[in-house]
Amino acid sequence: MTIKYVPEPFRIKMVERIKMLTREERIEKIKEAKYNLFNLKAEDVYIDLLTDSGTNAMSDYQWAGIMRGDEAYAGGRSYFNLVENAQEIFGYKYIQPVHQGRAAEKVLFPLMLTEGKIAISNMFFDTTRAHVELAGARAVDCVVKEAGNPSVRAPFKGNMDVERLEKIINEHGKEKVGLIVMTITNNSAGGQPVSVKNIREVSAIAKKYGIPLCIDAARYAENAYFIKQREEEFKNKSIKEIIKEVFSYADAFTMSAKKDAIVNMGGLIGIKESAELYQKIKANTICFEGFTTYGGLSGRELESLAIGLTEGLDENYLRYRIGQIEYLASILDDHGIAYQAPVGGHGLFIDAQAMFPHIPYNEFPGQALAIELYIEAGIRSCDIGSYMLGNDPDTKEQLKSEFEFTRLAIPRRVYTQAHFDIMADALIEIKKRAASVNGYRITWEPPVLRHFQASLEPINK
Ligand code: F0G
Repeated sequence: MTIKYVPEPFRIKMVERIKMLTREERIEKIKEAKYNLFNLKAEDVYIDLLTDSGTNAMSDYQWAGIMRGDEAYAGGRSYFNLVENAQEIFGYKYIQPVHQGRAAEKVLFPLMLTEGKIAISNMFFDTTRAHVELAGARAVDCVVKEAGNPSVRAPFKGNMDVERLEKIINEHGKEKVGLIVMTITNNSAGGQPVSVKNIREVSAIAKKYGIPLCIDAARYAENAYFIKQREEEFKNKSIKEIIKEVFSYADAFTMSAKKDAIVNMGGLIGIKESAELYQKIKANTICFEGFTTYGGLSGRELESLAIGLTEGLDENYLRYRIGQIEYLASILDDHGIAYQAPVGGHGLFIDAQAMFPHIPYNEFPGQALAIELYIEAGIRSCDIGSYMLGNDPDTKEQLKSEFEFTRLAIPRRVYTQAHFDIMADALIEIKKRAASVNGYRITWEPPVLRHFQASLEPINK
């Protein structure tokens, strides 16, 4: 049964026109884009669900903050506003702004990982995995088993498999494990949350073996909202209290602020207490990002980020945000369309393998569904499956992903109920003609992060 749409806790003050091409035009555009949705011009897209990253709508307060931004090269007021706010929210001593999440990874990871080491995570996001590998180390995923079964409704499918974590540490030897990373929410597993109980257990293991624990904190506010909804111990705690507790178990965090901090650009590194590590981070930041008090951002971006960090914690806003996705999911339930259930925080991850059981993993069912969504309704989404995962860095063989998802990532405060109805209708139509949809083959690919740039062609059977 379709659930009620949670009304927006804001009203619209400024609008942006979008255009809608015809189906024939879209078929032409996606062919010209070599069947890679990253190659499309954004203006040829009607509803852009490629990512929730940096695609957010800022508030009137944030836009006002833009005007107040202090553009001093060193020691600007906006830097101090940001640092003080972040210190208060996360309870960490040291905060370093950077221009986005992968910049945080680039600055921090080489200080903890070297050739021959491994890093273990509940699941690495693709850039995070790439930065582990660029530092010479290997990335090992260790998510709970229920994450691999989209129809199993477990409350915390993003959790680390703690038994396996300890086994992996013992197999490799603790001195080989440079870092444990908790990704909250677990993006690649479907925006699935991680419980405080799980973070406590992982933290205890990290301490036992003397391995640093880092949080990949892109969607920490959505994760806190799920904890409040689903973990009995926290039902009467505020989002702020939950966040403090979550971060208290780790030593450091990297954050893409382009998500839950509701801005278009920005990132953070947090170090709980190590002055020595912070010193090294400052040195790397100056080399890669610019002076420490701007970290690759303009003063106005630092200011809107400082404000967004707080706005992202508002419970009414979080209820509306997760509610939008639950609304869409309830329509899909009525039509037997499978997705990673229950819904994740930042989007709906459609089970493309269930939609197209006839397309094998190495013909990329998730990418095939993303292409169909564009043709059907001008919706841009992306593959989170074998196409994104890529090849084994040692053998160069295509890896088989644990799942084949097409991700509908929802920008924050951007789309309305009618847009969600269009998404549902498009999926319902595609399901009707699913048996006639073919897979794809790659005709060109770069060596790393291939899905951003690769060219594909349909396999006509
Ligand atoms: N970690 C996670 C969990 C992410 O989802 C992302 C980005 C990053 C790190 C890197 O941050 O883009 O600011 O450099 N995810 C985006 C996405 C791109 O579409 O899911 P970034």
